[in-house]
Amino acid sequence: MTKNKKLIAWVDEMAKMCQPDSIQWCDGSQEEYDKLAQLLVEKGTFIKLNEKLRPNSYYAQSDPTDVARVEDRTFICSKNEIDAGPTNHWQDPVEMKKTLTGLFNGSMKGRTMYVVPFSMGPLGSKIAHIGVELTDSPYVVCSMRIMTRMGQKVLDVLGDGEFVPCLHSVGFPLTDGKKDVKWPCNPNKYIVHFPEERAIWSYGSGYGGNALLGKKCFALRIASSMGREEGWLAEHMLIVGITNPAGEKKYIAAAFPSACGKTNLAMLTPSLPGWKVETIGDDIAWMKYGEDGRLYAINPENGFFGVAPGTSMQSNGNAMLSMTKNSIFTNVALTPEGDVWWEQMTDEKPAKLTSWKNQPWTPESTEPSSHPNSRFTAPAGQCPVIDPAWEDPKGVPISAILFGGRRASVVPLVHEARSWQHGTFLGSTVCSEMTAAAAGTIGKLRRDPFAMLPFCGYNMADYFGHWLEVGKKSSEEKLPKIFYVNWFRKNAEGKFLWPGYGDNIRVLKWVFEQVDGQDNFVETPIGKIPSKGSIDISGLDVTEKDLEELFYIDNEKFLADLQDLKEYYAKFGDRIPQGLRDELAAFEAKLTK
Ligand code: GTP
Ligand code: SPV
Ligand code: MN
Repeated sequence: MTKNKKLIAWVDEMAKMCQPDSIQWCDGSQEEYDKLAQLLVEKGTFIKLNEKLRPNSYYAQSDPTDVARVEDRTFICSKNEIDAGPTNHWQDPVEMKKTLTGLFNGSMKGRTMYVVPFSMGPLGSKIAHIGVELTDSPYVVCSMRIMTRMGQKVLDVLGDGEFVPCLHSVGFPLTDGKKDVKWPCNPNKYIVHFPEERAIWSYGSGYGGNALLGKKCFALRIASSMGREEGWLAEHMLIVGITNPAGEKKYIAAAFPSACGKTNLAMLTPSLPGWKVETIGDDIAWMKYGEDGRLYAINPENGFFGVAPGTSMQSNGNAMLSMTKNSIFTNVALTPEGDVWWEQMTDEKPAKLTSWKNQPWTPESTEPSSHPNSRFTAPAGQCPVIDPAWEDPKGVPISAILFGGRRASVVPLVHEARSWQHGTFLGSTVCSEMTAAAAGTIGKLRRDPFAMLPFCGYNMADYFGHWLEVGKKSSEEKLPKIFYVNWFRKNAEGKFLWPGYGDNIRVLKWVFEQVDGQDNFVETPIGKIPSKGSIDISGLDVTEKDLEELFYIDNEKFLADLQDLKEYYAKFGDRIPQGLRDELAAFEAKLTK
C-alpha cells in the first residue's frame, strides 16, 4: 500500500475513466504471480509448460495481428511538433488526450485494473526511476514482474516521490455479455508518449514493447527526454563485461537495431581460449558520468525479452540456460511433451508441434512453427554469466561503445572512430535492414541512427546535439572509444562472410586492445580499421580472401551512402549540430581526395 497522494489520486481518476470491475494493487509476490498465471491458464492465454521440463514456465499465443511493436501507431506528443522531430509521429497533446480519453472511457469494463509499481534500475539506486503501470492485462503484469523490479518494495522506496504514470489497456472491454478471448487486443492501437508531462498512454496491444511500458516507452522514449534535460544518456544498448586472459576487465556497450544481435553479443560464449564475457544487460543502458569523469552504465531492466528463433545451445547457450525455468514464451511452438520449440533451436526438427497459430505443424509445413518475432521472457538473474556488478547502483565504467546494423554490403566488419565527435557522426549514420521486431517491410534498408529511430523521445537532431554536449563534459582519454561493427556482410553467393556469435569475441578482442592503446590499425577515409593480422582468426575457416572482403572499403559506395545521408540530414533542417556538419564535410573530402 501507499500514502502517495498523487498516485492514489491518479489511480482513482484513471479508474473513473476506464471503469474496471475491480482494482488490484500488485505486491510483486510469488503467490500473486502464481495466482495470475493460474487465472491466465483458466482464460486460455497461458498453457503451463511441463513442470519437469520447464519448471514454473508458461506458453502464450498472441492474436496474429498483435505480434510486434507498431511504429506507425507510436506517437511523441510534445507541445511543439518540432520537438518530436521529423522521425517521430506527432500529434498535439491536447488533441491526443481527447482521442485517448474517448478510447479509454470504459475500456476496462468487465476486467480488473492492476496497479503495477515498478523500478527501472536497482531498487533505491540514485540512477533508478520509478513508474506505475495501470493495466487490464494479467499477461502484462506477469511479464512486468520478470522484466522489472515490481511490487510493494517499489512503493516503499517511492514514498511521496515522483513516478512516471503509464496507462495501458488492451482495448477489449467485456460489455454487453461479450466473451473474453485468449489474447484480447484492439485493431485500433495507440502507443503515446507525453515527454513534457513524463506520461505514457498505450491502447490496443498486449505485446512486448507496446504493452510492457517500462521497457521502450519509459526506459528509452521518456528516459531519453529526461536524460537530455538532466545531462545523461538513455540508449538502446547491451552492456557486457570482457575479461582478457591476463585477467583485465573492461565494459563495453553496443547499440544495434532490434533483432540485430544485442542479446547474442551480451552473453556470447567466446571461441577464443582464456577470454571471458559477462552480461550486465541485453537491450537498454542508462549512462551517467561518475566523479572520475568516466561514463557509468546501468541496465534498468530485470529480465530479458529476447528473440526466440535462431537461439540455440550453439548460437547462445547462455540465453538457453537463462530460460530453463520461471519464464514465459510467446508465439513460439509447443511440443507434444509440453515444452517449447522454435526454428534452429535444434538441428533436428521435432516430428510434430503446435505452431504459434495453434495449428498442427510438421517439418513438411511450409510456414515456420514460430513467429519471427516470437520471444522468451526470462529473469536476468538466471543468466549463467550474469556479471557480479549487474545490480551495482553505481553502474559499470564503459570503455568502448559499438554501433552496428545489418548491412549485406558496403560496411566493413569493424572500424573505429577518430574521436567522440566522429563516433557521434558514425552513430548518426547507422543504417540497417529492417527485421520482424517491428511491423513493416522486412529486409528494407533504413536509417536507424544510434539504433534509436523508434525509441528517441524527442527531435533526433537534438539527440545528436545532446551526444556532442555529453562528450564535451569529459576528455577523449576518459570517454569511451567508439566503433562501428557489421556481422552481416555477405559474399557474392549471399552467404555471411563472418561466422558471428561466439566468434565475435575476435572483434571484441581487437576493440579491447585498441582501448588499451595498442594501435593495431590503419587509417582509411571511414575511420581506423584493423591492421593486417590484428584480428585473431586462429582456428577459424575464414580465409584471408574472406577477410579482405570483410574489410573492403569501396569509396564509390560510401560516396553514394554519403549522398543519401545528406538527404537524410536535410530532413532536420538547421537543427543538425555543427559538429556533425563538420564531420560530414570532412568525410566527403577524405572520400573524394
Ligand atoms: P531486440 O531484442 O529486438 O532488440 O534484438 P537483439 O538486438 O537483442 O537481437 P538478437 O541478439 O536477439 O538477435 C536477433 C537475430 O540475429 C537472431 O536471429 C540471431 O540469431 C541473429 N544474430 C545475432 N548475432 C548474430 C551474428 O553475430 N551473426 C549472424 N549472422 N546473426 C546473428
Ligand atoms: C525491440 O524491438 O528492440 C525489442 C523488443 O527489444 S520490444 O520490447 O517489443 O520492443
Ligand atoms: Mn531491443
